[in-house]
Amino acid sequence: MDRRQFAARSLAAAAGAMLYRHPGYAATPLSAEQVPGSVPDSLIEQARFPEGFLWGTATASYQVEGAWNEDGKGESIWDRFTHTTGKVRGGVTGDVACDQYHRYPQDIALAKQLNQKSQRFSISWPRIQPTGTGAPNMKGIDHYSRFVDALLEAGIRPWCTMYHWDLPQALEDRGGWPNRDLANYFADYAGILAKHLGDRITVWAPFNMPWAIAFMGYAAGAFPPCRTSFSDFLKAAHTLALAQGEAHRAVKAASPKATFGSAYEMAPAYPKTDSDDDRAAAARYHAMNNVFFLEAAMKGQYPKAFVGEPPYEVMGFKAGDEKLLYAPLDWVGFHYYTRRIVSDASKEQFRSGGNFSGTEIESNSPGGRDPYTRFRAAMPTEGPLTDAGLEVWPRGIYDLVTQISKDYNHPIIEITESGCGYLDGPDEEQNGRIPDGRRIQWYREVLAELARAIADGAKVRAYHAWTLLDNFQWGEGYTERYGLIYNDFRNQKRTIKDSGLWYGRVAASNRLNV
Ligand code: FCB
Repeated sequence: MDRRQFAARSLAAAAGAMLYRHPGYAATPLSAEQVPGSVPDSLIEQARFPEGFLWGTATASYQVEGAWNEDGKGESIWDRFTHTTGKVRGGVTGDVACDQYHRYPQDIALAKQLNQKSQRFSISWPRIQPTGTGAPNMKGIDHYSRFVDALLEAGIRPWCTMYHWDLPQALEDRGGWPNRDLANYFADYAGILAKHLGDRITVWAPFNMPWAIAFMGYAAGAFPPCRTSFSDFLKAAHTLALAQGEAHRAVKAASPKATFGSAYEMAPAYPKTDSDDDRAAAARYHAMNNVFFLEAAMKGQYPKAFVGEPPYEVMGFKAGDEKLLYAPLDWVGFHYYTRRIVSDASKEQFRSGGNFSGTEIESNSPGGRDPYTRFRAAMPTEGPLTDAGLEVWPRGIYDLVTQISKDYNHPIIEITESGCGYLDGPDEEQNGRIPDGRRIQWYREVLAELARAIADGAKVRAYHAWTLLDNFQWGEGYTERYGLIYNDFRNQKRTIKDSGLWYGRVAASNRLNV
């Protein structure tokens, strides 16, 4: 769809869009010409980012490293999953992925060439503790030590996610995240990382997308270990929140320089209608999907994510757990990709099951997504869709950032991931150049909205584009490309896309019309 078609289609939908605005969000009225969700050129031209703003990209160990069984690494749940027939699109694995375990000097040189100042990466737990407990595997530590040194030499801040989904399989065999013992195992692991790398890494987050770890792994069954039990989901969520608190204390005890934050998935939730029920449902979505773990850390309690009282018993909540959950974050990190429209389902009969697709990462039965939160969350298609199937809705980042800023007393914010999947590849007639204009447009609009949030007072200090280079996209295998750099998986040849070159200029100038 070209811009004109998009504008025409979207104008028709403009009236409908007004309904979706969450009353809690600051609402800037749409002008008649403005495409809902899109951004006027003037905003892009005026956008400025503060001096010292940290431009970066994000990656995750399993998605880029490969070397799945080298240097003493143990098996992870993602190794087990991808090695099981029928799990991943195309039957592919992350055994080699981008081979970054061996090629990281080249990738860091590319990031430097693009003027990057921050690299969010994750450490593979089974490289450090092959079975999830016990003494560290020094070959694993040494690898990340060299990696961090290379980043620092390139003038890039190392930003460490301790867990981006690759649980040691041995810990899944002990019950996985629903087993509360994992909170302490995780804290031991976090302490090992801080002890060995905390002289150079100062920015730590325990989990990438803790809600997804619990829901996708234990309720929707779409990701390993593929369980479909809502009580396991709730137990897993509680263990993850406890682990967040315990890891916070372990990291601070081992490294005086450490700062501790998060990498939560978030999507602004707009009620489907103006009814009280839908507004309450949108508030439950926000509580469950966006701030569940943030509230646990900041306040030592869970937000009102449930119809009725939180199901403490099912979660395995014990007296005194409030104290363990409490671990105020030094800064708040979250992702932005798209938005959700939420409606109430509490009056309908709950039936388990529902739909799951790799792009729309919800599982919604007619009676709600699960028996406790009782809402339906959908991704609308009013804006255009990326090739990966997510709606383009730049304004969502403004709404989300301003709400978090207001609700948590203007914390330091880091955008930990944000990006779009488009399949553009090398154009042989243009010498292999990769003209991915749609990705540039996506970033221009999202970043203009982010600049607007900053101008309105949000203390955002960093933005990490997802992702540095095309990589293994979980259940979708290699069929989605989110990179600023193209990777040819046949020979591991990296080519900077037009979007990468553009992002490099943005990083150098703190403006968007470059
Ligand atoms: C996020 C994940 C990340 C990547 C992007 C596209 O949900 O954190 O690993 O797959 O989606």
